[in-house]
Amino acid sequence: MRVIVTGGAGFIGSAVVRHLIGKGYEVLTIDKLTYAGSLTSLAAVKDDPRHRFLKADICDRAAMQEAFETFKPDRVMHLAAESHVDRSITGARDFVETNVLGSFTLLEAARHYWNDLEQERKERFRFLHVSTDEVYGSLGDEGLFTEETPYDPSSPYSASKAASDHLAKAWARTYGLPVVVSNCSNNYGPYHFPEKLIPLVILNALHGKPLPVYGNGANVRDWLYVEDHARALDLIAERGRIGETYNVGGRNERRNIDVVTRICGLMDDLHPKAASHADLITYVTDRPGHDARYAIDATKLETELGWTAMETFESGIEKTVKWYLENEWWWGPLREGYDGRRLGLLAQTGAK
Ligand code: NAD
Ligand code: TYD
Repeated sequence: MRVIVTGGAGFIGSAVVRHLIGKGYEVLTIDKLTYAGSLTSLAAVKDDPRHRFLKADICDRAAMQEAFETFKPDRVMHLAAESHVDRSITGARDFVETNVLGSFTLLEAARHYWNDLEQERKERFRFLHVSTDEVYGSLGDEGLFTEETPYDPSSPYSASKAASDHLAKAWARTYGLPVVVSNCSNNYGPYHFPEKLIPLVILNALHGKPLPVYGNGANVRDWLYVEDHARALDLIAERGRIGETYNVGGRNERRNIDVVTRICGLMDDLHPKAASHADLITYVTDRPGHDARYAIDATKLETELGWTAMETFESGIEKTVKWYLENEWWWGPLREGYDGRRLGLLAQTGAK
């Protein structure tokens, strides 16, 4: 099995690459290495002859076409994206370029490659478009996102992902490209860039810095350990039905304040200081357009493809805190480039 993984130097992509290499697949990672991408996240597969790396932008049609023609993949798992909501508020252009135009470019390169394949390989080929539950917008106190929930994105990030999901599905309907789409809830785990809530809070707690909680901390996210997501994506690419969407989530809803408090408790146990880390919790100005609640109904993935999450939030968050405490070699250089400062306030946009 020969798989192209775009965004493979990022958080989830690198977990996917490690998983596929572990299964004995041949993998070509394509990544532009933005601020969010790091070859150090691929250290575990660096010397594996089945892994190749191509530094390229998915918006570069010629580079994508050449990658398809030379590597000759059986599958594409498309994860390359600008992924941080706060950055999308102050700089949406990169999100539209990579997430919308980049996905379009990749779909076109895939379509031209796929069109020329012989029948058997053509039937085997899959393009997995990896997306987020944020395309569905915000839930109230009740209910879950299903695959039938209408799209209603709130942020420039989720709007750009929604656009790319529509393109991917249109390429299946119009051109017959064998596309499958996945929409997953919030991931956490090792190699997570420390601008996102969980790694930011772990490292700020370690360094005795304030732990910023947006608004009143009551917003709910549905957390999934990244390796559970990587297994789900492999399964969906392998057995998912063409043209279908699969929601991915681990049934682990938590309020943000409870996530932060749990991390503080683990830090108190694993890295004790004179005062509790919870003393560092600081309520700050809310995120503009902040979705109240996300929660995934993963019944289709569970019943049709037999997937279940292996980590609970309790087991996964403990693993994650321990990993950050033991792996400064990975996050140390990244924190030099991004020190945890607040991102995504309207005052930073220059908008009138
Ligand atoms: P990430 O920001 O950690 O990684 C994204 C990777 O894409 C980086 O390595 C970056 O260098 C690369 N990239 C960005 N622009 C590129 C371009 N133009 N060309 C080539 N490479 C480029 O993101 P992540 O959290 O690993 O998310 C991966 C995918 O999963 C995204 O599509 C995201 O929308 C989706 N997703 C993320 C979550 C989550 O909780 N993080 C949840 C559901 C879905
Ligand atoms: P984030 O990790 O940015 O993921 P997403 O916006 O994709 O859900 O944020 C998770 C939740 O945590 C979200 O409700 C915003 C909140 N948050 C904070 O309270 N403080 C922070 O410093 C950050 C980065 C996020």
